[in-house]
Amino acid sequence: MTRISGVQYERQYSEMRVNESDFLVIGSGIAGLLVAIKLASKGTVSLVTKKERSESSTNYAKGGIAVPVGEDDSAELHTEDTLRAGCGLSHRDVVEFVVGRARASLEELISMGAHFTFEKTPTGIRLALGHEGGHTVRRIVHARDTTGKHIETVLLEKAKSLENIRIYENHLAVDLVLESRLRGEPVKPDRCWGAYVLDIVSNEIEAFIACVTVLATGGAGKVYLYTSNPDIATGDGVAMAHRAGARCGNLEFVQFHPTCLYHPEAKSFLISEAVRGEGAILRTVTGEPFMGKYHPEAELAPRDVVARAIDSEMKKHGHKFVLLDMRPIGKIKVKRRFPNIYMTCLQYDFDISKQPIPVVPAAHYMCGGVSVDLKARTSINHLLAVGEVAFTGMHGANRLASNSLLEALVFADVAANTAAEALEGCVIKLPHIEPWQEGGAAHLPEVVVLDHDWDQVRSLMWDYVGIVRSDSRLDIARKRIRLIREQIETYYRAYRPIPDLLELRNIAHVADLIIRCAMMRRESRGLHYNIDCPQTDNVNWRRDTLI
Ligand code: FAD
Ligand code: SIN
Repeated sequence: MTRISGVQYERQYSEMRVNESDFLVIGSGIAGLLVAIKLASKGTVSLVTKKERSESSTNYAKGGIAVPVGEDDSAELHTEDTLRAGCGLSHRDVVEFVVGRARASLEELISMGAHFTFEKTPTGIRLALGHEGGHTVRRIVHARDTTGKHIETVLLEKAKSLENIRIYENHLAVDLVLESRLRGEPVKPDRCWGAYVLDIVSNEIEAFIACVTVLATGGAGKVYLYTSNPDIATGDGVAMAHRAGARCGNLEFVQFHPTCLYHPEAKSFLISEAVRGEGAILRTVTGEPFMGKYHPEAELAPRDVVARAIDSEMKKHGHKFVLLDMRPIGKIKVKRRFPNIYMTCLQYDFDISKQPIPVVPAAHYMCGGVSVDLKARTSINHLLAVGEVAFTGMHGANRLASNSLLEALVFADVAANTAAEALEGCVIKLPHIEPWQEGGAAHLPEVVVLDHDWDQVRSLMWDYVGIVRSDSRLDIARKRIRLIREQIETYYRAYRPIPDLLELRNIAHVADLIIRCAMMRRESRGLHYNIDCPQTDNVNWRRDTLI
């Protein structure tokens, strides 16, 4: 059922292919797939995804999903742990909302076919629960150490079985279709009608028009030189939404995962925090354990503390990495509980059951993003955001481990309900529509110039806007990123869009937003640590950074 009509609409779009559906979902990770599955009974769903359908951060998630199902656990305890990790910025109402729905969301996932790891007890079997930093009890539901891959596979199978969902692989959303732009005049608040999307195979821009659009584009780890994220994580959703005028926030809170494998070919392969939950120890290159000096919980301190401690040890000794010693877990258990990590490290000639391995922190997760309310609504009408792209208020200044998949699960349900409601009242009368006009017809003569700018943005962010920041470094970063962005805009206006250029434009945009947020916050809190204002200022700064 499509509700889009109008002769003018078809005439105006004669130069470009138009796809019409009730709902447009951008992204095929846990958030996008779940929303699409839930909406399939309400109307037609176009799901665009920029690479092959399984390529997402979800697919690489290891530790698991935090759910308070243990006998010694409760929603209250999980809420308190989340609030503590968030360092005063998590929104209590959001945390209670998400944690309160955790068990039901997990059961729903299981009803769709997900199988999690069980363990035997003297009286029967129960879900095996992992332990991670910042959690006072064991509460990480997992499928060995490939939880995300399992969830992604289950959801893709489910989506495939639903007639109303059409998945478009290799389709990269470039920008949102906005009512204000269609009318050529301000519309307050603006209204989203879908997205312009690059078909990467035909190299043509198409319009995907829909009553409700859901951004589920994931994170932005590629803004940094070293990241645990896959290549898709270029912050496209935040950049598109911000260009469209949507409110964004808390982008200074970039989470660095403490332990990624240090190896030139390993692309920052993530060694799950769950290994420390099972007894692994961090050591200096000379073998000294050091976490006890930094936090009473030592290896199980919150992630921001562990990442800063590693950064400090590396700088103090002039070392390029620290060591993660998994031998205390025991040979049999390490292979059984972490088979993917074991086998992958073996490929790089590290036997984790016998030797400590070199690890370094890497950019891992965006706690901020496109600001949404408890109904997943952004500040633009009919534009929703779910998953890592969204800033719900759950994570505050630092995300508690394994709360991301949980947040995506719960908010996918919320977003599907909101989208379904929005469809009910939706009368589509599209005004005058401009065909895609950005970019010239010429092909970029030398793609190598883009490579150079990619490196520049990512190195700049790593060196100047990393784990430890300062006013002068932020100031340099701000000046440089503005120049780089100007250069990128020149390419964007002059040449045909290609994925490398579009993603570069987006990482540079998000980098700029991170720097702006970091400069605004005149204190240190959670993941944002500035040596020029090292104290936490609860009087003036116990609030979000909104832009
Ligand atoms: P993603 O799963 O990243 O999906 C984003 C989708 O959007 C992809 O399909 C992508 O191709 C698509 N996309 C992006 N831009 C565009 C565009 N312009 N046009 C079209 N499509 C686009 N969290 C936990 O809670 N527990 C864990 O154990 C855990 N482990 C992790 C391990 C690793 C290595 C990583 C990287 C992250 C981990 N996280 C974990 C974080 C968690 O996996 C992510 O936050 C979560 O999966 C994000 O889901 P998502 O659906 O929002 O985005
Ligand atoms: C991990 O397994 O360490 C990642 C967990 C997370 O990012 O929540």
